[in-house]
Amino acid sequence: MPIPIVLDVDTGVDDAMAILFAVRHPGIDVLGISCVAGNAPLPQVVDNTLRILDAAGAPDLPVAAGAVRPLLEPPRAARHVHGPAGLGDLVLPPARREAVSTSAVELMRRLVLEHPTPVTLVALAPQTNLALLLRTYPEVAGNLERIVFMGGSASVGNATAVAEFNMWHDPEAAAIVLDSNVPAYMYGLDVFNRVAVDHEVAVALEHGDDPLGRVVGSLLGHRVALSEDERAEYTGLIGDAGAVCSLVDPLALRTEVRPVRVELAGYGRGQTLVDLRRLSRGESMVQAHPDEWTRVEVALEVDGERLARLFLDTLGLA
Ligand code: BDR
Ligand code: CA
Repeated sequence: MPIPIVLDVDTGVDDAMAILFAVRHPGIDVLGISCVAGNAPLPQVVDNTLRILDAAGAPDLPVAAGAVRPLLEPPRAARHVHGPAGLGDLVLPPARREAVSTSAVELMRRLVLEHPTPVTLVALAPQTNLALLLRTYPEVAGNLERIVFMGGSASVGNATAVAEFNMWHDPEAAAIVLDSNVPAYMYGLDVFNRVAVDHEVAVALEHGDDPLGRVVGSLLGHRVALSEDERAEYTGLIGDAGAVCSLVDPLALRTEVRPVRVELAGYGRGQTLVDLRRLSRGESMVQAHPDEWTRVEVALEVDGERLARLFLDTLGLA
């Protein structure tokens, strides 16, 4: 049986690749997609999501608009990373499909509660929609298999020295989600930054004959300059798509169940604190305040080549 999932996205160059992979992989059943402000403003996220579904030749599936901004912070679109329209240099034709008129929270609630088996929530964006869902309809947690999220880091950050973008954009939402006690799997920067497609492959795709290959080549080839002084560099990262790959090839990653917190104050705001200490048996976790920390399955290492190959194979681009 394919894994039933609801995707939460802020499309976004790498969310676009994640959507392409999810709707094309036979082991995954995308029940619907909820959109949230993040990489781009919400209306653009919705539009990009609909366009990329068309490009994927995806079946009709519900797409809903959610939160226009984080719980406390103002929206802070990452135009410097994802370009002015959120998809880098890629320009796709106007969408032939439309979003549903219900809100993301209502759509997620219906999709999860109506499904005969537990559903996996795959969160690839700031977790505002998830927090609102779990606060509005806590009973939804009862039919969630787990939450797989791209976010956080057990080492360095990207939005700040220590905070990853999705967590930093809405730290309160991430804290609410972690506190919900739904089993969680963290696909953070430690692995996100290690799954890439070679430059020559991306160039060949972008300039090849396959329409989907041209889309993927353009997304992979999108160059990011982190500051004005820096030269834009090719990374070839498949980004959020790696988190979706982990659903169907979990053995490509090494994970550990670790206590995790989201820092809400000061310079560390948005940082995921991951307790990596190896405490001997019987030694108290007293310094870690165990009741306030959530045990999360954290991906720490990945066979990047293996996931990049899975990504290209699934899209028929290998
Ligand atoms: C995450 O932030 C966004 O820019 C990407 O889409 C990804 O979900 C990486 O920090
Ligand atoms: Ca994203």
